[in-house]
Amino acid sequence: MSTLAIKGGPKAAESLRVPAWPLLTEEDRQAVMEVLDSRNWGRLYPESRAEAFEKAFAAYHDADFGIAVSNGTVALELALVAAGIRPGDEVLVPAVTFIASASAIACQGAIPIFVDSDPETLAMSATAAKAAITPRTRGIVIVYYGGYPPDMDAFVRLAREHNLVLIEDCAHAQGTAWRGRKAGSFGHFGCFSFQQSKSLSAGEGGMVITCDPRLAEEARLYHNIGRKVGFPGYEHFVLASNYRLPELSAALLLSQFTRLARQVQERMANAAILAQGLREIGGIKMLKQDERITQRGYYFLVLRYDGREFADVPLRTFITALQAEGVPCGSGYGMPLYKQPAFARAYVAELLGRAVEDVPDYPNLYLPVAEHFCAEEQITIPHAVLLSGPEGMRAILDAIAKLKAHAAELRDAIA
Ligand SMILES: Cc1ncc(COP(=O)(O)O)c(C=O)c1O
Repeated sequence: MSTLAIKGGPKAAESLRVPAWPLLTEEDRQAVMEVLDSRNWGRLYPESRAEAFEKAFAAYHDADFGIAVSNGTVALELALVAAGIRPGDEVLVPAVTFIASASAIACQGAIPIFVDSDPETLAMSATAAKAAITPRTRGIVIVYYGGYPPDMDAFVRLAREHNLVLIEDCAHAQGTAWRGRKAGSFGHFGCFSFQQSKSLSAGEGGMVITCDPRLAEEARLYHNIGRKVGFPGYEHFVLASNYRLPELSAALLLSQFTRLARQVQERMANAAILAQGLREIGGIKMLKQDERITQRGYYFLVLRYDGREFADVPLRTFITALQAEGVPCGSGYGMPLYKQPAFARAYVAELLGRAVEDVPDYPNLYLPVAEHFCAEEQITIPHAVLLSGPEGMRAILDAIAKLKAHAAELRDAIA
């Protein structure tokens, strides 16, 4: 009988114990109960939990202002509108990301322009972004995919040189720092998600952060149906939506936030153990180590699979076999975004009120680095796994080493 778990053998990572996510403590419960008892469940009064969380989280991320919102998708929408992106503007965005990075652009009536990934880091390529700039380009949404930063030196320079709005999608990047400065504090706005699976979570929630007082004021105005701070509740200065974060969520986030910095360190230490072990096994690599990345937040750990080192076992088979060995893993968001049904050309043209030939032919796009990465290389491991200690990392390495030793058998089993 085969020793592969996928064929009924024992699991190599049987001992891996991943903490249930999100973590929940007595302090979290108390924080929520206090809000319930106070009957102040919304933030329509001064000194709210939302305000305290905005201050604490923005300070941790090296920004002067934070505006808490109900999720990461509307954080992006709010940032784009407050930074001045308008219908018909072109906005550059990577192809390998969650749909919200691009749908938020289209929801403003602007045109998402997909840009290929850097072959070394798999973040949006600054060279490809520069080549994609046209007279209609007004902004760039960069994404810290899995928490890994794009080349921030290059993107800050590019945005300045071309007078572009720079929005950082930091939904995955709680804790990431570039040259000692945290994600979200480089561009016009940084946008965060606190959805269920994120490394800081209240089930739902989001925030935009900025260092610019004028932009902060603009974001506050738009996030609160056009209300200005200091004006009576029924005066409205722009037509906008309600993006406010409920107090119950803010209380839970404030409580969860007390553990974030320590968890970031723990994940980094465990990821380093994994990196060392993977170097010894061969065939699976971490993303490029760049000394400008001074701290790493994780949504998921992104690994690069080289099938040639595993007897040409296809990526999907390898992932299924690794899961069977007891390692929670997946393939990120699966495909470049422009392949999603939502990017049907006629539909996008209608949504944006433009002629079909006036929007990119999304379904026929082919960005080679993004395509190869999604189809052949990408393995993702959720961040909670990185809280399972050095012994957890060794269990993962055992599972990978086992699949390498039995690669030919795995290949033949699925042939
Ligand atoms: C990269 C990225 N941006 C934005 C979002 C949107 O966040 P939310 O789910 O809070 O709306 C997500 C959510 O997974 C994401 O992964």
